[in-house]
Amino acid sequence: MNVLVTGSNGMLGRDLCPLLDDRGCETIEAARCDFDITDFSAAEKFIEKNMPEILIHCAAYTNVDRAEEDEMCMKVNAYATENIAKICSKNNITMVYISTDYVFDGTKNSPYLPSDSTNPLNKYGLSKLKGEEAVKKYCEKYYIARTSWLYGHHGNNFVETMISLKDKQELKVVNDQTGCPTWTADLSGAIADLIEENAEYGIYHLCGSGKATWFEFAKEIFRLCGIEKEITPCTTAEFKRPAKRPAYSVMDNQSRCRDWKAALKDYIELRA
Ligand SMILES: NC(=O)c1ccc[n+]([C@@H]2O[C@H](COP(=O)([O-])OP(=O)(O)OC[C@H]3O[C@@H](n4cnc5c(N)ncnc54)[C@H](OP(=O)(O)O)[C@@H]3O)[C@@H](O)[C@H]2O)c1
Repeated sequence: MNVLVTGSNGMLGRDLCPLLDDRGCETIEAARCDFDITDFSAAEKFIEKNMPEILIHCAAYTNVDRAEEDEMCMKVNAYATENIAKICSKNNITMVYISTDYVFDGTKNSPYLPSDSTNPLNKYGLSKLKGEEAVKKYCEKYYIARTSWLYGHHGNNFVETMISLKDKQELKVVNDQTGCPTWTADLSGAIADLIEENAEYGIYHLCGSGKATWFEFAKEIFRLCGIEKEITPCTTAEFKRPAKRPAYSVMDNQSRCRDWKAALKDYIELRA
């Protein structure tokens, strides 16, 4: 099966492409140097030249705080996703769109289901939701895979940030936002499973099982690294950021990914 992956040079893309190869797919990598996803004709030319059966759209504007001020976020996540969706639809290509827990406002107190109402609190979440809407509007054959709190060996992420701050004197970590940490390797496997199973088209939540606050996540990182580190829990109000974030964005993954702590253990062992 031919699968084209946009954002192949990103944190998820760099785990996903080799995993698809291992699962027997013929993977076509598309990085920014191959085409800019905001350029409709360049995207159309590249995709139609390669004519994949499936396109996994990982490319995105992912800086949540900068997105509050930067119009490029909407251009990349909403309008460019619409471009890709139109091209997939025209060529009968199944589209897989990677979305986010930040489409939710976090006011629920039990895990979010794919059918729950969305109400993003920040520009990044809104732009990704508009991307979802474009996929649903233009594609008949689509998977929307919402994920959250990603970390992986090929990008900046919370795990690496915490480890890099191990010598900081007082490390304060937010303890009133709860979500699902997810390793990009596990997410890649869950995406490949959806495709292999020929799962019903629609929205899926692909994130680590269980839940944690950023503070609990940080404690587990240091414990698994064998680093003795005192960290101080703090509130979102104390740790001011440009973009609002949901207080609770735990998603029900219908057992499509394993427990987040087991995944983190493997990630830490591999990076040693
Ligand atoms: N990271 C998270 O915690 C998280 C959480 C939930 C959902 N997600 C979603 O998961 C997906 C993968 O995230 P990630 O963490 O792997 O992101 P990432 O590391 O930031 O990778 C995104 C990739 O998109 C590429 N890209 C951006 N704008 C482009 C453009 N105009 N044309 C072509 N390529 C462009 C980037 O290229 P350059 O490298 O050249 O900039 C980058 O390689 C995204 O859809 C994201 O929204 C992420």
